[in-house]
Amino acid sequence: MIEPKRSTASRPASAGQRPEWWREGVVYQVYPRSFADSDGNGVGDLQGIVDRLDYLGSDGLGIDAIWLSPIYPSPGLDVGYDVSDHERVDPLLGTEADFDRLIDEAHRRGIRIVLDLVMNHTSDQHRWFEASREARVGPYADWYLWRDPAGIDELGNRIPPNNWVSFFGGSAWEWEPRREQFYLHTFLPQQPDLNWRNPEVEAAQYRMVRRWLERGVDGFRLDVFNVFLKHPELLANPVVEGATAWARQVHLNDRDQPDFAALLERFRAVVDEYPDRFTVGELFDAGPDRAAMLTTDRHLVFDWEMVIAPWSASAFAAFLDRREAAFGDERWPTLVLSNHDQPRHASRLARSAGTDDVDAVAKAAAVLLLALRGTTFLYYGEEIGMVDVPIPPDEIVDPPARLANPDFPWWNRDQCRTPMQWSPAPGAGFTTGRPWIRIADDAARRNVEVERRDPASVFATYQRLLRARRAHPALHRGTFARIALDSEEVLAWTRIADDELLLVLLNFGTDERPVTIPGDLAGGDISWRPIAGTHLDPRVPDAEGAILLRGFEGVILYRG
Ligand code: GLC
Repeated sequence: MIEPKRSTASRPASAGQRPEWWREGVVYQVYPRSFADSDGNGVGDLQGIVDRLDYLGSDGLGIDAIWLSPIYPSPGLDVGYDVSDHERVDPLLGTEADFDRLIDEAHRRGIRIVLDLVMNHTSDQHRWFEASREARVGPYADWYLWRDPAGIDELGNRIPPNNWVSFFGGSAWEWEPRREQFYLHTFLPQQPDLNWRNPEVEAAQYRMVRRWLERGVDGFRLDVFNVFLKHPELLANPVVEGATAWARQVHLNDRDQPDFAALLERFRAVVDEYPDRFTVGELFDAGPDRAAMLTTDRHLVFDWEMVIAPWSASAFAAFLDRREAAFGDERWPTLVLSNHDQPRHASRLARSAGTDDVDAVAKAAAVLLLALRGTTFLYYGEEIGMVDVPIPPDEIVDPPARLANPDFPWWNRDQCRTPMQWSPAPGAGFTTGRPWIRIADDAARRNVEVERRDPASVFATYQRLLRARRAHPALHRGTFARIALDSEEVLAWTRIADDELLLVLLNFGTDERPVTIPGDLAGGDISWRPIAGTHLDPRVPDAEGAILLRGFEGVILYRG
């Protein structure tokens, strides 16, 4: 067993000076299998990420932290989210030494490393579960959620303990002949849920968390965190009308328990033993009110409205008003449009906008991500406008996609997990071998190498917006207020910090739109200076505050 190195020396240069780097900074999600393959086996790896740190750092794209999707040993049934050992690095991705080098090299460049913690469940090949399934007695017997059948039906089949269903289809209960009991799995049967009400489980999780913190990790993304606790008696969920098995239940008892906030406090207190660390929880299947309830001054939450909102100024206005009302000025939201579970937003939003001009929509969306209030999360490849890749049925990897049926509709998550497109070379500069999942057809023209040379590219737009965000306090920490305009197609908002006022205008439409900045913002001897936007030659308001925005144009204006 390799002992992890105690990493105290290796802290990012700015640690301490920006105690809340995670509020102001931008987090870049890497799906390790798909980012960069250093050894030609077709699977991305940790060394590949080390090799690309300069691309991500301040001389390149300019992000502050990397969130790594799970890097732990895994049978791979949920492509890494079925973890068989939470304390080690998957040999498929590299060695323990590679991980320590990644931390050191990232910190040397002022980049933080955030791990994805999958603590609701383990793989069924985890040693805890292997012991737990053996017998009803023993040290791990009570580490998972085991129950007797509720009875026997008229056909002689065992009835599961309650009516809960798996998010990945079918019953949430699986029979284990060795114990002669059912165990609970909110996801795949190979992902049994841990029993967080057993204090030994909670203590074991915190031991694991401390180990990673000792190794220099800067924070965690918590997978499906609001599901950790279930109703203590595992009561059945109320049944309602609905189009799918999941929608036919009110998920009252299988998530969001009243004592979860206290658990989150205990977890966060462990993280707070180490300075300057960050946590964000992935809210499972709930809206902005719940997200706001679980957001604290030390912990952020992903909610989903922004990820599913259609491309329209009114939809975003409604979403922002709802969110701001739920969060207030005190709570800090997250800004996300894509991740490893969702369609790539360039595809989704261009479809929603009714245009083939994916790049124009990708650039406009970048203005939302980098100029609204909140911590921005980017998903690898979105900075070059990567799109969903159609995966033929015989190449599907994502397990729920193979189980899909009318009562369990599922999208194929493989489409957004394809290799990063680095160059026009064969293998897209991702691998010299055979990629584990197919590479997009557009890789020869949509890639980092090509886009870095083009000042009008999606990449260059992200880079400019990231620089503006870093340079302007109003953008990275300012207040937010939505402004009503004389056009329904244009979303407008201000960001204010100290004595800096920025006005952001974003035209969701395909056509030119004239808008006038309201009198209380404009007028007098005020002048507006564009600091960044979708276009290299942004439009500027005239003396009366009138501005003609092009289709999908977004601009950030500084009031001088
Ligand atoms: C989260 C992950 C997703 C995974 C699921 C179960 O939603 O983002 O990829 O399948 O949890 O672990």
